[in-house]
Amino acid sequence: MYVHRGDEKLHTEYIDLGGVSPEECARALKKAGQIIRDGGLVAFPTETVYGLGADGMNEEACAHIYEAKGRPSDNPLILHIVDFEQVDEIAKDISEDARKIMETFWPGPLTVVLHKKDIVPDRTTGGLATVAVRMPSHEDARAFIRESGRIIAAPSANTSGKPSPTLGQHVYEDMNGRIPMILDGGAVGIGIESTIVDMTGDCPMILRPGFISRQDIEEVLGQAEVDPAITGRTMKKDVIARAPGMKYRHYAPKGQMILVEGEKEAVVATINQLSKEKEEEGCKVGIIATDETLTLYPDGIAITIGSREHPETVAANLYRVLRDMDEWGAEYIYSESFFQENMGDAIMNRMLKAAGYQVLEAGKE
Ligand code: TXA
Ligand code: MG
Repeated sequence: MYVHRGDEKLHTEYIDLGGVSPEECARALKKAGQIIRDGGLVAFPTETVYGLGADGMNEEACAHIYEAKGRPSDNPLILHIVDFEQVDEIAKDISEDARKIMETFWPGPLTVVLHKKDIVPDRTTGGLATVAVRMPSHEDARAFIRESGRIIAAPSANTSGKPSPTLGQHVYEDMNGRIPMILDGGAVGIGIESTIVDMTGDCPMILRPGFISRQDIEEVLGQAEVDPAITGRTMKKDVIARAPGMKYRHYAPKGQMILVEGEKEAVVATINQLSKEKEEEGCKVGIIATDETLTLYPDGIAITIGSREHPETVAANLYRVLRDMDEWGAEYIYSESFFQENMGDAIMNRMLKAAGYQVLEAGKE
């Protein structure tokens, strides 16, 4: 009853948690918990991006996640918990260091890869011997997980290949008719997915950069490495990403996106030149600018992604801007780039993927 099959459409209940009475909120959360216990799917907000949740210990329920997303089923899911005790239900041989970063950054945007216990079905982990665990800090996420009484397996709530949802509206666009319930908790705070760190080896290994940076982890543990497959500015074909999901083409807008790198003036001049050329050919051009440069682009449609001085604003707006570009029908998207310390890694990791690693150096022929 809770599963979408073929062309058949499900009724999707959409609840704006911020816009209804506390009683209605409580009713919706209760119902969401029941849907999960019955093996159904519920989309919910977290501090990073919206998640598409199912009972993580229910193999069939997890299979529905892949159907709803249209995602390859070898891509393992992250398990979401609310209490520290729950880690020991699903993971074993947890190192001191792993406990230390969990205690430091949980609840929050950090996912930790640990040795899995047999209780976790293969469907959840894509057959891996490890399991990814995260304790979100978002109050609605916590209330929902607690209400369900389950450990919640959840990928981002977008259809496969689309940018992750940062607004309830994005989830609605992708999941209406495919799942029984969407919990809208407003705009998420961080806007890019959690940092993933593998704690099963000798050195903490960052498999996906996020709001919690390598420096943050080094400060607590004294060391941290970054998976070589995700560093650098080109796609590495000969290195296999250790987070299986990192190998897929992700977050791609429909238009052709090019990142322009270099000194501010040169970047602006190059983007203006490219935009002018394409507009003269009759193409729709979108420009991803910053608060600092927005007024410097006379051609195309320029949108600001945030302020360079506050990279967290860029992260928060990133996926929405990509979706807006699609909605508007941009055929070419020229974007400033954000190679910089800390958050820059996480932002550029997503932007490089969206642009299919097309980077142009402004001022160089
Ligand atoms: O912020 C987030 O992490 C969001 C919210 C909803 O919590 N979730 C999310 O899930 O981004 P998803 O499915 O879009 O990305 C999960 C990533 C994938 O790249 C997957 O390959 C990786 O985590 N992953 C999951 N289990 C793993 C494991 N055992 N070892 C290595 N990578 C794993
Ligand atoms: Mg995802």
